[in-house]
Amino acid sequence: MKDLTLDNMTDVVISSIADTEDPRLKEVLSIVIRKIHEAAIEVQITHAEWEGLMNFLLAAGNISDAQRNEFILLSDLTGLTSLVDLIASSSSPDASERSVLGPFYVPNAPMIESGGDLIADNEGDPVVALGRVLSSTGEPIPGAMMEFWQNAANGQYSNVDPTQDDNNLRCRMLSNDDGSYEVSTIRPIAYEVPDDGPGGEYMRATGRHCWRPAHLHVRVHADGYEDLVTEVFNTLDKYIEEDAVFGVRSSLAIPFNREPTPDEQARFSHVASPFHMVDFDFVLQPLG
Ligand SMILES: [Fe+2]
Repeated sequence: MKDLTLDNMTDVVISSIADTEDPRLKEVLSIVIRKIHEAAIEVQITHAEWEGLMNFLLAAGNISDAQRNEFILLSDLTGLTSLVDLIASSSSPDASERSVLGPFYVPNAPMIESGGDLIADNEGDPVVALGRVLSSTGEPIPGAMMEFWQNAANGQYSNVDPTQDDNNLRCRMLSNDDGSYEVSTIRPIAYEVPDDGPGGEYMRATGRHCWRPAHLHVRVHADGYEDLVTEVFNTLDKYIEEDAVFGVRSSLAIPFNREPTPDEQARFSHVASPFHMVDFDFVLQPLG
């Protein structure tokens, strides 16, 4: 019988999964087990701390349901989600950077034409977002399926706010023949991620707030290209340097306050003045 000790426990556990058939699973498990053991030994974890961790995870499970996944929130708040985005983006450095999908995406939003309007009867500062969908090799991409979603003037997204229509401030549209797109909407505002569960407990214990700077969510799909899930941030937001979920990248942040040109003022005369322009090109990585 082999004695289990602080020195050999990690190797013994990793050798116990030696028959794992899936090589990727075996690699991941081996590294995760080693890192968790290293952390436990480094901090000299106590029984009380271990029990606290188990109860924290249990609470995260208990507050989760079909609409709410507290583990994803914890992943967001600890930067893991953004690490996954950064790793994915590192293989396509000429494409737009990825940023978190978040919990408020809803598939199959209504199709509108490029140039269409999301403002309807929403309160807020009108803006026109416009730009092009481009290949990382420079060519425009016509017919790209773009999905936009954002929060309303009360900070809420329509899928979690019974006071809004289901598809308020959401749409899909196809980019034009020259890759261009335009949509009028309201300027999104900062909002707080849920703080009533273990995610909030983590933030309070670490002296952080739950605010995210204002952003427009965008998802772009075009045949022959990698899908892009990203966010466009307003650099004028007070929380731009301290996003609770670490989604901001400088390449995704612009001031949402460009004055329209006389031509744009005329072209968007159906949008209540004064309105501002938000210019952003989405660059996709060809597959393969
Ligand atoms: Fe969001």
